[in-house]
Amino acid sequence: MTDGNPVDSVETMFGTPAAPTLWLSPMEGVTDPPFRHICKGYGADILVTEFISSEALIRNAKKSFDKMAFEPSDAPTAIQIFGHDEKSLCEAAELAAARKPAFVDINWGCPVRKVVSKGAGAGILRDIPRMVSVTAAVVRQLAPLGMPVTVKTRLGWDFSDLPIVEAAERLQDVGIACIGIHGRTRSQLYAGEADYTLIKAVKENPRMRIPVIANGDIDAGPKAKAVLDYTGADGLLIGRAAMGNPWIFTQIKHYLSTGEELPLPDLATRKAACLAHFAALVAHYGPVVGGQLIKIHYSGYFKGLSGFKPFKAQLMRTADYAEAADILEEYRLSMA
Ligand SMILES: Cc1cc2nc3c(=O)[nH]c(=O)nc-3n(C[C@H](O)[C@H](O)[C@H](O)COP(=O)(O)O)c2cc1C
Repeated sequence: MTDGNPVDSVETMFGTPAAPTLWLSPMEGVTDPPFRHICKGYGADILVTEFISSEALIRNAKKSFDKMAFEPSDAPTAIQIFGHDEKSLCEAAELAAARKPAFVDINWGCPVRKVVSKGAGAGILRDIPRMVSVTAAVVRQLAPLGMPVTVKTRLGWDFSDLPIVEAAERLQDVGIACIGIHGRTRSQLYAGEADYTLIKAVKENPRMRIPVIANGDIDAGPKAKAVLDYTGADGLLIGRAAMGNPWIFTQIKHYLSTGEELPLPDLATRKAACLAHFAALVAHYGPVVGGQLIKIHYSGYFKGLSGFKPFKAQLMRTADYAEAADILEEYRLSMA
């Protein structure tokens, strides 16, 4: 199953409460191969591609196939797919499985209107029987390949209907290997604070046997520990807090093992990491696209540091690596 993506054991790969895993949460336009590789280097245990349209995959769209690429050294990497049509999802899951990821994840959590309006992503949370039957079909499709299927979802569509405890159990019963839960409803989008009460309830359901991964607003060691302690989860999915701060995985691991918070990296370290990221994007996409893609990461790399604003404005006006390196050096000198 995993010759391109070796893992010790499927049973422990997802984590346990005693040895929780830290996942890089899938993020469209962010968790591309260069960023995943960087996060792996700073301690992410499991990497997930951004969501990939099942319809695009079965229509052989090159861009979507490119999103599935990963280096064997970045194992375990999972491929996440989304869609609304059972047949397309099954076919796409098989195309994803052919890349030999550690597992295939189904996105049942994306809140974006054009996704949910078709019944894909979090749209499925209004129809749990369909969520269960479509997931079961994907599990059946990949079972002969020995490829695990997982689900990432939210608490429910809105606060009037929070089906996650029952849904998680039913998804388990049709054969998913692990479930990731973002502690928000679809209607919240990203507003308000993530609520872990129902993630704890899923984990405490005596009929649940599969690992449960908690997600939402985890941005530092103390928060990670609090969420793990409260929910009893087997791991954490970390999304936005990793943008421009791939050290988050090291920081959380250090905190979980010592109870001490590591200091944030200094400006010189952040500058070096940002430029290494820029170089990796250029190597992967070429200078034009790479020079644009780094721009979403600048704020994260220099978050909380004073005096960055005018330099960020300059950085946003260039896509050239050498020019960006000069601007960042000027910034460093201005702060020295
Ligand atoms: C820019 C962006 C893109 C995202 N794309 C995806 C995606 O492709 N698949 C997915 O399951 N979730 C996606 N998410 C949701 C995140 O994986 C995560 O569930 C959410 O941001 C909450 O976790 P966080 O507070 O750690 O960021 C995305 C989030 C952001 C901010």
